[in-house]
Amino acid sequence: MKIAFNRKSSCEIVITEKVWEILAGLAARRRLFVLTDKTVYGIYSDRFDSVFPTSSVYTMSAGEAYKTPEVLLALLKKMADEEVLRGDLLVAVGGGVVTDLGGLAASLYMRGIECAYVPTTLLAQVDASVGGKTAVDFCGVKNLLGTFSQPRSVYIDPSFLATLPLRELRCGLGEIVKHAALFPALYERLSAASDFYDVGFLGEIVPLNLAFKAQIAEKDPMETGIRKCLNLGHTTAHMLELSSSDLSHGEAVLNGLILEAEIAKRTVKDADVAFLCSLQSLCRRALGDAEPVKGETIDLSLARLDKKNVRRGEIVLTLPVRCGEYRIVPMDARGYEDMLKEILPS
Ligand code: NAD
Ligand code: GLY
Repeated sequence: MKIAFNRKSSCEIVITEKVWEILAGLAARRRLFVLTDKTVYGIYSDRFDSVFPTSSVYTMSAGEAYKTPEVLLALLKKMADEEVLRGDLLVAVGGGVVTDLGGLAASLYMRGIECAYVPTTLLAQVDASVGGKTAVDFCGVKNLLGTFSQPRSVYIDPSFLATLPLRELRCGLGEIVKHAALFPALYERLSAASDFYDVGFLGEIVPLNLAFKAQIAEKDPMETGIRKCLNLGHTTAHMLELSSSDLSHGEAVLNGLILEAEIAKRTVKDADVAFLCSLQSLCRRALGDAEPVKGETIDLSLARLDKKNVRRGEIVLTLPVRCGEYRIVPMDARGYEDMLKEILPS
């Protein structure tokens, strides 16, 4: 699959079960600088050591807490110390934290060097590795510093999913259900699935997700129009993440979709209520043994903190309406808060 963003920028996406062989081939042809995190390195150290015997491998600490300007600068310093040159290739092997931070480093170093992503989480395989958004968190705001910059190649090997903890699979499932609500072919596959946590099944639906995300990103690389559909469920998800400390992003997205489907039922006249009920039940199945959120665990006053989606007392929601259709609906922030109080289960 190849996505062309304009005449100068394109990205090839390769789905393969031979990712280490491909990386070994790359390492034989050009100088690589490899970024990964400690967890991924810990699990796949034999592969890293045999495939990259002469390349520099920079291993950052794992997790969102390390997606920071400080870690970015430490990485850039290491690249400068190692005398990485413009013709070299940065290879980011890991989840969305590693690909977002590695992509940003590659776009900054010497005004931009090429990079390749090897996404190893479900979320990174179906979402973060495609579309060219790179970032680190700054001043307490997620992804405040970043660029739009496409990797040269993305190599996706579904066998990485076998080592992923269940909660990380759920993070990917949040984005997969969101894509499905917007993409009928994927909705059909999910509706027919017996076990959402079967990594064989998840590997099979990665390409459909990629096809959907790539087509949206290709049409709207800078997120000025149609790409905003990917915010489906996310305004409420961000609010839930801000007001509850123990929800993962995937759990917040699945709960956000359940609540926004309910808001759509009540506020969008031509909404397909049967579809919205079926979407809510898909989200509950994807949550697995994680309980849907309850009213008493959420501090709604914090909803207003989500700067990206609140403008002068108005909150912007991207609501599901029917299969494959969404609507961007501004709502008075107080009205949104009241509605959530009404619909959150106790
Ligand atoms: P992550 O990179 O923190 O990975 C989650 C955890 O899984 C980490 O501890 C990691 O070490 C571990 N891990 C990775 N691969 C593994 C494997 N194969 N086996 C076992 N453990 C493994 O988080 P994530 O969920 O992959 O990505 C979240 C990040 O992605 C966020 O920072 C978010 O902002 C970003 N994101 C970016 C985009 C984009 O368009 N650029 C889209 C969505 C999300
Ligand atoms: N994850 C949403 C986007 O890439 O636009």
